[in-house]
Amino acid sequence: MVKIKKIYIKDIKNYIDQEIEISGWLFNLRSSGKILFPIIRDGSGYLETIYLKSSHNESKFDDLSKLSQESSLTVIGKVKKHFKDENKCELEIIDFTIHHIAEEFPITKKEHGTNFLMDNRHLWIRSKKQFSILKIRSHLIKLIRNFFDNNGFLNIDTPIFTSNSCEGTTTLFETNYFDKKAYLTQSGQLYNEANMMAFNKVYSFGPTFRAEKSKTRRHLTEFWMVEPEIAFCGLNENMDWAEKLIKYVLNNIILECNYEFELLNKDVNKLKSFVNKTFPRITYSEAVEIINKNNGNMNWGNDFGANDETILSNNFNSPVFVHRFPASIKAFYMKLDNKDPKLALGMDLIAPEGYGEIIGGGERETDYNKLVKKINEHNLSKNDFKWYLDLRKFGSIQHAGFGLGVERFLCWICGIQHVRESIPFPRTINRLDP
Ligand code: 4AD
Ligand code: MG
Repeated sequence: MVKIKKIYIKDIKNYIDQEIEISGWLFNLRSSGKILFPIIRDGSGYLETIYLKSSHNESKFDDLSKLSQESSLTVIGKVKKHFKDENKCELEIIDFTIHHIAEEFPITKKEHGTNFLMDNRHLWIRSKKQFSILKIRSHLIKLIRNFFDNNGFLNIDTPIFTSNSCEGTTTLFETNYFDKKAYLTQSGQLYNEANMMAFNKVYSFGPTFRAEKSKTRRHLTEFWMVEPEIAFCGLNENMDWAEKLIKYVLNNIILECNYEFELLNKDVNKLKSFVNKTFPRITYSEAVEIINKNNGNMNWGNDFGANDETILSNNFNSPVFVHRFPASIKAFYMKLDNKDPKLALGMDLIAPEGYGEIIGGGERETDYNKLVKKINEHNLSKNDFKWYLDLRKFGSIQHAGFGLGVERFLCWICGIQHVRESIPFPRTINRLDP
């Protein structure tokens, strides 16, 4: 007897007219009296199947017709082209085995409130939309790594426990560290700078933590950030790298995640169009002017609010870089503009359609004395930054880098409104479970 091949749903197109075996869970079940239409999911995709009463004994038909949502099973069947859609497949079930009969699944086809769904996040991730988003997330992360690995960057990890702040002291998570205090990292940047001096182009990729007390749709307390740091690099080249990265990821994610974008009903043509556009680069002052000309209300010297970023992005039909911010709203490590020391050589990339800032970065201060002055002005302790200051004592060079937030980038790519759906188990001010 021929051994039946075990396959995954994503590969089913390769098995037309063959008998195969699939193991998974019952996602949905429809019946028309004499025919059952179970939809099975196996973590690689969702498959429509058919079970004919006429071809099977009555008790088996009964078992399947009563099977509850999310029960686990193995089916053997024959792969056919879908009767409605030539490009899809369906499976005519020949036989099946039930592994576990699920209790009543709390998430059904009816509308559920967000809080309920978030409380059931561990089960919600089985749904088509969440499945697609998180699958795309996984490809996104892989593509980001590919981009840096293929461009001569070295991936070096940075610590999570730190003794000082990088992005300001107001969003630090403090924790006991034996007889001392430690903080969860807000950014790997300072360590990336040390690594950059040893290995040239480097990047870190890991979780970062911000005690954000705000309840916006863009803020998590734990999020993933990729942070390149580049030796002998200024602000413009830094923006070049950021632009290349975004375009590389967009171009490839569309190719790799066809199936998931389809499940999301996401038209990717818009995303595709950005690959061939040059991202405009405007100064902070120009941005303020544009915002105010378009019914915004922004004073020079303030940080952009979500509304300001939306106005700005609506003015450009592509991602847009904003650079040269007031130094007073930027971190201590930013290099000041030689032409106007009120300005810092920072840059943000604002995503289109109101998805907000997805990248923040800039050129770093290289002068020991200027850096000490900034550390003092920011009420930070010079002692805490002794090792960081050392980097300016031993072969200090022009360098720059940036941080890209995975969740915000993913929100834009998938067209989701709230960042809580862009990470498997989100952490926000009000949520630590599940
Ligand atoms: O602009 P940020 O704070 O920049 C830095 O941390 C720099 N040290 C990075 C660097 O130059 N190496 O954060 C960078 C990006 C933001 O543009 C955003 O995409 C994301 O990280 N981000 C958040 N994402 C989700 N929730 C939050 N609370 C976030 N804060 C920042
Ligand atoms: Mg920022």
